Amino acid sequence: MNVNIPKHIAIIMDGNGRWGKSRGLTRSEGHYAGAKAMEKVIDASIDLGVNVLTLYAFSSENWSRPKDEVNYLMRLPVKFFNQKLPEFMKRNCQIRISGNMDSLPNNTKDALNRAVEKTKNNDGLIVNFAFNYGGRDDILQAVCAVIKEVKKNNIDLETMDEAMFNRFLYTRDLPDPDLIIRTGGEKRVSNFLLWQSSMSELYFSDVYFPDFDERHLKEAIKGCRHMVTQ
Ligand code: FPP
Repeated sequence: MNVNIPKHIAIIMDGNGRWGKSRGLTRSEGHYAGAKAMEKVIDASIDLGVNVLTLYAFSSENWSRPKDEVNYLMRLPVKFFNQKLPEFMKRNCQIRISGNMDSLPNNTKDALNRAVEKTKNNDGLIVNFAFNYGGRDDILQAVCAVIKEVKKNNIDLETMDEAMFNRFLYTRDLPDPDLIIRTGGEKRVSNFLLWQSSMSELYFSDVYFPDFDERHLKEAIKGCRHMVTQ
């Protein structure tokens, strides 16, 4: 593809529930299909030479969904990483998690931590799962962490700047996303990467996420003109 490839692509993977419903399936079956599509997008990102792929897998607002659906979304990473970790290793992917891990069920937390630990020395595509992530929560927890450091005299507030503040965010040392894609037809940011997206390009696709594939990803990339990171 003869275009600039964004270094960091972030995706709001929306439309799983409607995809399921449109096929007479459950919402959870839609999420399962979404996880399959996620694998294809990861493969395509490796092929295209993307450096970081952030996937919005569970938002801090998703807790208000029916209990069955929340339970399914908490079990999904356990099943997914049990099966797929060897493939992530083979593909040299480094897994990261951005989000509040404290309030997750233990088995979900363990599966995510194990995936991060096992892949930490891989230097290929960084696959960053935004899990129990909210943009406002991200900024708020960073402010609280800064205050703690100031109180301990570890930081002089006079020296605080954007680069230093970045280090307290869930995304830490990752570059800001060049391109944010939202599938599923809605045109809003839904509390995703509020600080990090200040210069990002936004791309909206009507395709439900389980149907989103390499072709759609390339289409989104083709329209991306402004890279945040040079
Ligand atoms: C939004 O679609 C999607 C989610 C809330 C979950 C996305 C999760 C995955 C694609 C799989 C994650 C897997 C792992 C292993 C972390 P929606 O349910 O809001 O769709 P709707 O708008 O049609 O209702």
